[in-house]
Amino acid sequence: MLETLKETVSWLRPQIPVETNIGIILGTGLGELANSITGKKEIPYETIPHFPVSTVEGHSGKLITGRLGGKPILAMQGRFHFYEGYDMKQVTYPVRVMQLLGFKYLFVSNAAGGMNGSFRVGDIMLIEDHINLFPEHPLRGKNHEALGVRFPDMSKPYDPELRKLAVSIAQENNIKLQSGVYVGTQGPTFETPAEYYYFKIIGGDAVGMSTVPEVIVARHGGLKVLAFSIITDLGVYGKIVEVSHEEVQEAAKIAQPKMAFIMEEVIRQL
Ligand code: HPA
Repeated sequence: MLETLKETVSWLRPQIPVETNIGIILGTGLGELANSITGKKEIPYETIPHFPVSTVEGHSGKLITGRLGGKPILAMQGRFHFYEGYDMKQVTYPVRVMQLLGFKYLFVSNAAGGMNGSFRVGDIMLIEDHINLFPEHPLRGKNHEALGVRFPDMSKPYDPELRKLAVSIAQENNIKLQSGVYVGTQGPTFETPAEYYYFKIIGGDAVGMSTVPEVIVARHGGLKVLAFSIITDLGVYGKIVEVSHEEVQEAAKIAQPKMAFIMEEVIRQL
């Protein structure tokens, strides 16, 4: 894996300004954040050596370089989901690339179903912590000490200082920001009523099909992480309605300017 990664990184290196140390993963329906990036240059995934190629509707599949909040950033428009058939090494490959490019920060967004009874569709949830329920672990197998330790600490998966900054930016700008625990599951089915209830009982506030693998690899690689969920549907016991991918995208679209604003301001104040 190391050799492959080095080839990807040496191909990308000349195309990414050396001072860039912020990576962003734009999740479902959040691709519009890309409109706020200035001086954009796009690198389609299929042109990058050894990069997986994304397929799912609503994910276009390219790296974007440019500036956001006055800082140079690298954004991923389109991520790789486990349910698409990628293995965990492929799902997390771009995060390893960011690590080897010397990045310090990873910002992540996703769409999620809310189990917390005080959440509403369109709310933004700052991810405080997660529960990993994926059936495969991204760090399973031989550990490369050059990339991180065999048994990584996970006591602070989402950086406390970055979270504090996000909360104060939301408060100052009158943006409602929920906070909670994200449960990561493989999908592609949305949850049954009993599953939503189970995820609530075990301590979850929202559930989705991404983010956890990328965050684990980012922490293994020493990147500081800040992540947000857009609550696109509710899995609140007794009030469960049907969910579709289209509704998820619609709800994400409505909430995304608020999330984009918080993310951009956090980056500005780093
Ligand atoms: N469950 C899982 N993933 C999701 C959901 C959900 O309810 N909403 C958006 N992504």
